[in-house]
Formats: sequence, structure tokens, C-alpha cells
Amino acid sequence: MNPDEMKKQAAIAAMEYVGTDGVVGVGTGSTVNYFIDQLATIKNKIEGAVSSSEASTERLKAHGIQVIDLNAAGELSVYVDGADEANHFLQLIKGGGGALTREKIIAAASKKFVCIADSSKLVDVLGEFPLPVEVLPMARSYVARELVKLGGTPMWRENFVTDNGNLILDVHHLQIMEPIKLERQINDIAGVVTVGLFAARAADVLLLGSSDGVQTILPK
Ligand code: 5RP
Repeated sequence: MNPDEMKKQAAIAAMEYVGTDGVVGVGTGSTVNYFIDQLATIKNKIEGAVSSSEASTERLKAHGIQVIDLNAAGELSVYVDGADEANHFLQLIKGGGGALTREKIIAAASKKFVCIADSSKLVDVLGEFPLPVEVLPMARSYVARELVKLGGTPMWRENFVTDNGNLILDVHHLQIMEPIKLERQINDIAGVVTVGLFAARAADVLLLGSSDGVQTILPK
């Protein structure tokens, strides 16, 4: 089975967590695109979706799913999103698609965070995937120098602007042994909007598509 088929299987499995009559939080990325396609099959049974990016909004609307502002939705019962890496505590690296800030807000505003991914995303130690950090444009160089002090090698994601009008630094060469501590340290740097470490608010369940089917992984 190829990674796309694994992603699709995980997306199908996530439908079990979606209730009817409610508003669903929707992440961003190729795995989530499969989930949006699944959501379309029950679009008349849900109130709508809160979207984490312009790209997901476009796909939701193309399917005729109503997109609802988070401010109008209140607490969400479920948020479904992908990840670039997940450890066994279901702490994640996210932001490969650059949507980390809105993703983190919706994850925080949701009772249950269901992460969907193919089996290549599960790791013992986070950090092989470069850690995305969204920064205000004027702070780019300053934040990069501070990230070097934390042991990383930041690279500016050139020709990329986030949905919020900001920039992304991808931090290479990190071995993240204390994810919650590093998340706080990076959040504390002036000019950082969001770090793509989802450790303080980890996922509640990971649905991992693999050749043997979908594994349901709960935090260790
Ligand atoms: C976007 C994200 C995505 O969830 C992450 O990049 C995984 O993407 P994909 O499902 O395409 O592998 O965090 O900001």
C-alpha cells in the first residue's frame, strides 16, 4: 500500500469520531484533503466546519460544506488534522503546509484532537522533520539567531507567506528530547507567532494508516 492509500484509510477511520449535528474542526494537508472528501458524504448531517487554512476552506466550499468562523462556533467537539511527525505521547511536529497557527488555535479550542497520518510519521524522537516556526516578517533574522542559540539550524522558507501574512523558519538538526520545554522556549522569543510543536496540547488519538490497516494509537 502506498502512503496516499494509508492516508486515505486514516481519513476514513476518522469519520467514526465525527458526530452529527455539530461543527467539525478541519486541519490542512494531503491527509486532511481525504478527510474533507469523506466529510462531504455527510455534509447534510453536520452544521459545518471550522477551517485551519485558505486551502482547506476552498476544498470544503467546493464540496458545499459550510465554513463557520471559530468565533461563532464555540468549543468544538472534534478536530481532525494531519502531522509531519508524531511521537508515542502523540506530541507532534506540524506546519509543513504552513498552516500551524490556525491549526494550533483550533486544536486548543477542541475537546478531542484526532490526528490522521500514514505510518511513516510515527517516530521515537521528534526533530528529524524540520520544525516550522511562524514569525512576523520584521523579526525573521532576530528569531533565527535565537533559534541557533537553542541548537537548531533555521532556514527561511523563501517565497512562502502564511495565510496570516507572516514568514516561516524551518529549524533543522533538532533532537527534541523535551518537547513541552522547547515549545515554551520558542514561544517566548519575541516575534514568534507560533511554533509547530504541538506538545502542551498533544493529539488525543492517532489514527495511523499502514499496510496492515489503521492502527489506533493512544498517548503513552
Ligand atoms: C499543515 C500541517 C499538515 O498537517 C502536515 O504538514 C501533514 O501534511 P500531510 O497530510 O500532507 O502529510 O501541519 O500545516
